[in-house]
Amino acid sequence: MSLHEIRDGLLETAVTWDAFEKRIRSALYTEATLGANKSVVDIGEGNGFASRCGLITCDWVEDAEGDNLPKRVVLKIPSALPFLKLNNALPKGHRMIESEEGWEAMGDKLRGVHNTEVATYDFFEDFEGLALPKKYYGKPFGTIDKIGGEICLEYMENARMMNFHEKHSVESVKQIARALGKIQACSLKKEPSAPALLKDFVDEFSKNATLESYSGMFKSILLVDFSPKTAELMGKIGAILPDYFKSTLMSTLHKEMGVRPVLVNGDLRTENVLINKDNGDLAALIDWQCTHLGVGVEDLHRISLFALSTEDRRSSTGMLVEEMYKGMVNNLDGAEPPYSLEKLLFLSDLLFPHCALYFAGGAIAFNLRLKDNANEEEKERRKVKLEKVIGALEDIIEVHEKNIEVLIFHTTLS
Ligand SMILES: Nc1ncnc2c1ncn2[C@@H]1O[C@H](COP(=O)(O)OP(=O)(O)O)[C@@H](O)[C@H]1O
Ligand SMILES: [Mg+2]
Repeated sequence: MSLHEIRDGLLETAVTWDAFEKRIRSALYTEATLGANKSVVDIGEGNGFASRCGLITCDWVEDAEGDNLPKRVVLKIPSALPFLKLNNALPKGHRMIESEEGWEAMGDKLRGVHNTEVATYDFFEDFEGLALPKKYYGKPFGTIDKIGGEICLEYMENARMMNFHEKHSVESVKQIARALGKIQACSLKKEPSAPALLKDFVDEFSKNATLESYSGMFKSILLVDFSPKTAELMGKIGAILPDYFKSTLMSTLHKEMGVRPVLVNGDLRTENVLINKDNGDLAALIDWQCTHLGVGVEDLHRISLFALSTEDRRSSTGMLVEEMYKGMVNNLDGAEPPYSLEKLLFLSDLLFPHCALYFAGGAIAFNLRLKDNANEEEKERRKVKLEKVIGALEDIIEVHEKNIEVLIFHTTLS
């Protein structure tokens, strides 16, 4: 059973209206039923490639409890169809997936990350006031059940995605830092035990990559930025890439450094943060498919790299790490924090080049090319993104060199 075939359920998936109705009614303990005006629209298209995300208007009828039932909910169904569309747009011979085995492997990957997302929402369900949408129900895939996974979430009304092409304010990221600290505190108060949360987070998509293809991904920035300064910078980046190729430090640093890990989102890009449409306040952190145990600065680095201009990111990193740390300490209910702020700042530098290369590599490969007929707005957006990427690359070199000195110093001491 594969996830890349068009089916006759909601948004071309295998989930039917009847199945959804049964589950939502049972989750909400209601006798009410869905009316004739129920509807579903795709709200994920173009934003993610791992699912079909539907906004469902329920049109409850015979609602004896009054109107306490959610009028609208989000139904996220793992699907390879958005990726299939992207893949089919590439010429034959250049497609990312060309064989049936490739699609099967993709399906297994999607099933795995979906089960991680369900386990994350299950884990945080015990806590209140976290910046996650409420979960109505979550259905993981089983070993035999290869098509029946889905998760139904609160629809964040009046919210929009943050965008990589915008310069967001330091204040917005400060709110995220505090929210992350609180989330981290929860994962210290209750030991995560679900196997889907304890998996080692290794980037499966890079499993077949070679150092040459990895380096090539970075070099392609020279197709969009012809300046000698960038060429020189890329020379330096090329020289350090072998040290970072296939790095798994994001999921091993805590073990290597002997610090207690926290649950991190693992994919906290701008597109996975929802903010209030009117005032920009944080609404929710979404897309918990890459949740893993690690060091909390991973999420903070990722969102800072995606959201802030280089200047703002450089001047606020220390303050943001401190805000996140305070957010964690303030929510530990008086328990002793497992590590100091100084230690976290130290880990922050060690992780930075890894996080920033992950960010820059993806951005160069997927976000910087312009269509031939790009309009002024698209060119302006590209400028904002390019500025963030160049700043990240410059800082990678600087922090890399600093880290080497610090690590040599530590090794000499021990
Ligand atoms: N709870 C929600 N409330 C409002 N919009 C949502 C919600 N969940 C997802 N979305 C929208 O759907 C898009 C895709 O959701 P996401 O969980 O990031 O899926 P994917 O794994 O496909 O990236 C988001 O970028 C957002 O625009
Ligand atoms: Mg997403």
